[in-house]
Amino acid sequence: MKNIKLLLLIFATGLFLLASCQSTKLKTNDLSYEYGETYRPLVHFSPPAKWMNDPNGLVFFEGEYHLFYQYYPDAMVWGPMHWGHAVSTDLVHWQNLPIALYPDSLGYIFSGSAVIDINNTSGLGKPGKPAMIAIFCYHSPVLEKAGKDNYQTQGMAYSLDKGRTWTKYAGNPILPNPGMRDFRDPKVSWNAEIKKWIMTLATGDCVSFYSSPNLKKWTFESKFGKNEGAHGGVWECPDLIKMPVKNVKGELKWVLLVSVNPGGPNGGSATQYFTGSFDGHRFTSDNVKTRWIDYGKDNYAGVTYSGIPQNDGRCLMIGWMSNWQYAAAVPTTPWRSAMTFPRQLNLEKGKDEYYITSNPVEEIERLHERKATIKPFEIKDKTELTKQIPFELSPIEVIADFELPKTGASSEFGFELYNSKNENIIVAYNNTSKNFIINRENSGKNDFSKDFKGIQLSGEMKTDSIISIHLIIDMASVELFGQLGKVSMTDIFFPNEPFKDLRVYSKNGIVKCKGLTIYKLNNIWKH
Ligand code: FRU
Repeated sequence: MKNIKLLLLIFATGLFLLASCQSTKLKTNDLSYEYGETYRPLVHFSPPAKWMNDPNGLVFFEGEYHLFYQYYPDAMVWGPMHWGHAVSTDLVHWQNLPIALYPDSLGYIFSGSAVIDINNTSGLGKPGKPAMIAIFCYHSPVLEKAGKDNYQTQGMAYSLDKGRTWTKYAGNPILPNPGMRDFRDPKVSWNAEIKKWIMTLATGDCVSFYSSPNLKKWTFESKFGKNEGAHGGVWECPDLIKMPVKNVKGELKWVLLVSVNPGGPNGGSATQYFTGSFDGHRFTSDNVKTRWIDYGKDNYAGVTYSGIPQNDGRCLMIGWMSNWQYAAAVPTTPWRSAMTFPRQLNLEKGKDEYYITSNPVEEIERLHERKATIKPFEIKDKTELTKQIPFELSPIEVIADFELPKTGASSEFGFELYNSKNENIIVAYNNTSKNFIINRENSGKNDFSKDFKGIQLSGEMKTDSIISIHLIIDMASVELFGQLGKVSMTDIFFPNEPFKDLRVYSKNGIVKCKGLTIYKLNNIWKH
């Protein structure tokens, strides 16, 4: 009898443990969310639940775009970092996959990159089966608590089944810490000139470059940036890319993306870029002023895809659509944060400098569900558009061209999306100061952070008389691509009621809307 009781107790305990394991599993990695909650992005990637920040390990392999991301599966605020994982075959529809990388005794898994080791330089692949290799920063909370400076090191993990399962490399860390508090965010790419891998690493107030023949042993090459660019905060998430100059046949140039937090053009975190040259060892910039990938408040830690096939050749970037100033306080549940719409970056040569243009990837066309075309018209004050658009206003894509007359031209014009509570989000062009504006002063909930409310301005534009505005508007975000992508601005917002009405306005004069097309976009989670 005693034995039976004991057996029953063991059985019951077992059942309890199993059940609690199951519920933790569900809580931490439930992929079955409906994606229909208030503020849930419908054309942007967001995790099913819990906290997300930077995109990591962006890599294309065998028909799939991988999106790994900084993920804390146990809370809606930042915590011990994992790599969450999703894949897409078209950059717009995403399939959530189980967590790829978990913290281990060396630390949390901070930001990093992924490559396909086609030539098996690491020896971790198998014949005909190149390894997908993730190179990331280990952040040791133990060393940090012990007051040491060397708590960030670089580690590596590999997968032989298209990123579905991962093995940490036994020789980790692959790059120990030389005694710097900020030593993170490795972005690795193959350098064809020196036939080595180059690692771009964020090291406080500069970027450090390392090289390696096999991804396992790294040699310091050089540093860049202590006295260049914006330094309002620490440098993070660098990315070195070789890009063709779109309007100069045969010319290639190097571009270095560097995120900085804080110190962005409109406060908080943002991403700057440098154009220049890289000889396999050292980067030299030709910037004359600081330049930004995005002037809005909500595009940070953006990096580009590796492994894009040569016959495609596009430079594709995804950023984190939030800002460290308030990311942990935004009023969404049960998740926090989304990614920007994937963007194609191009490098162009202007009169005095090379510059980057950003535009939504052309795959956005796959989401076009309905179309409203509005005939050219003149705007003197306000023109309501809602009645001419036979569908709901989010998510939508807006493509418009405006022409400013030589005399009597408007001093500011743009779009106002609004609701019956008198809340709005305004995207406009100021023709006096010559910059684009996103105004979310009155866009709904904003008391969760003193840094949220406000008006964002782009840098000054040298524009002609035609102003082009291209918008992606989701349930809680707007992305502006102005002047065919010469300016981009990304902002999130949280109205107390969805924005159902749209008008265009002009102040102190006239502007002509030459063409206006609005697409209703399909919900990417319902297909
Ligand atoms: C950038 C960043 C990285 C770091 C990660 C931690 O947003 O601070 O520098 O690796 O987030 O989650």
